[in-house]
Amino acid sequence: MEQAIQVKTNKHESKAVFNVTKAVLPVAGFGSRMLPATKAIPKEMLPIVDKPIIQYIVEECARAGITEIVMVTHTSKKAIENHFSTADELEQSLASKGKNELLAQVQGTKPSTVTISYVQQGEAKGLGHAVLCAKEIIGDEPFAVLLPDVLIDEDDSEVDNLTLMLQNFEATGTSQIMLEAVIAEDVTKFGIADINGVDLQAGKSSPLIRVVEKPSQEDAPSNLAIVGRYIFPPSIWALLENTSAGVGGEIQLTDAMDELIKTESMDAYYMTGKSHDCGNKLGYAKAVINFATKHPEIGKEITQCLTPVPDPSA
Ligand code: G1P
Repeated sequence: MEQAIQVKTNKHESKAVFNVTKAVLPVAGFGSRMLPATKAIPKEMLPIVDKPIIQYIVEECARAGITEIVMVTHTSKKAIENHFSTADELEQSLASKGKNELLAQVQGTKPSTVTISYVQQGEAKGLGHAVLCAKEIIGDEPFAVLLPDVLIDEDDSEVDNLTLMLQNFEATGTSQIMLEAVIAEDVTKFGIADINGVDLQAGKSSPLIRVVEKPSQEDAPSNLAIVGRYIFPPSIWALLENTSAGVGGEIQLTDAMDELIKTESMDAYYMTGKSHDCGNKLGYAKAVINFATKHPEIGKEITQCLTPVPDPSA
């Protein structure tokens, strides 16, 4: 067990803060926006060049020092568990053929520093409900939540966004929610944050005033969208338990956060780099292109193939 330290926050005299070592990854969703590709394959298993989306997310956790990952999953998504388990026959075959580099990649799908456990979300009752399914495993500790639809291109930053958010939390005891600006028409697709009109710069944080799930353009308090990375204190559990169905008839994580703000400080963190929403066709296609151009093996050729050839007659 990590050593607790006492920190002061705005709304509480002091509270105990632990190093955050646990993360919840909700992976139970059906991926209907990516059908028919996701009819038999979990959306989290769609490849971005040569690794499934979920592997990037697990690697992001490991880089940030997370050691225990809880995936909230569904019986139809066994392929995710298989991907992070050993594959004896395949490994023996690769070893016998001397394909050592591939063997290392197959054995390294799960970083050695993390354990992954799985809990079923019996009913599709929304993101808030999915996170709540991890309560018994996470227990009375702060934790991160990473939405696997959201792939982050850290854009060669020295420190990952998740790492910075964890550092902020461990220094202040204040929850962290990651934001990115979206075009006005898109506010209806996201949780939207009110940060009192502050001009938040990339990599910086500012107090969160209010959050609202998928508002209309008229009701949106800003164009700052929540983009799938959160650090929560254990006090979120009781709020999730008491959150009734909201937008879309689902128990929304955003609604529980909006309650949390009433009793505890929360910080909005503006991401560096850019996010890709791999849960829809356009976002997924852009992510594949973006990551392919940076891939050590094929990046150069992909970039060449995307560069328009000058018209000699022009
Ligand atoms: C979820 C959250 C929403 C957030 C979005 C992107 O929505 O409910 O607040 O902005 O993820 O991270 P979903 O895309 O599952 O509808």
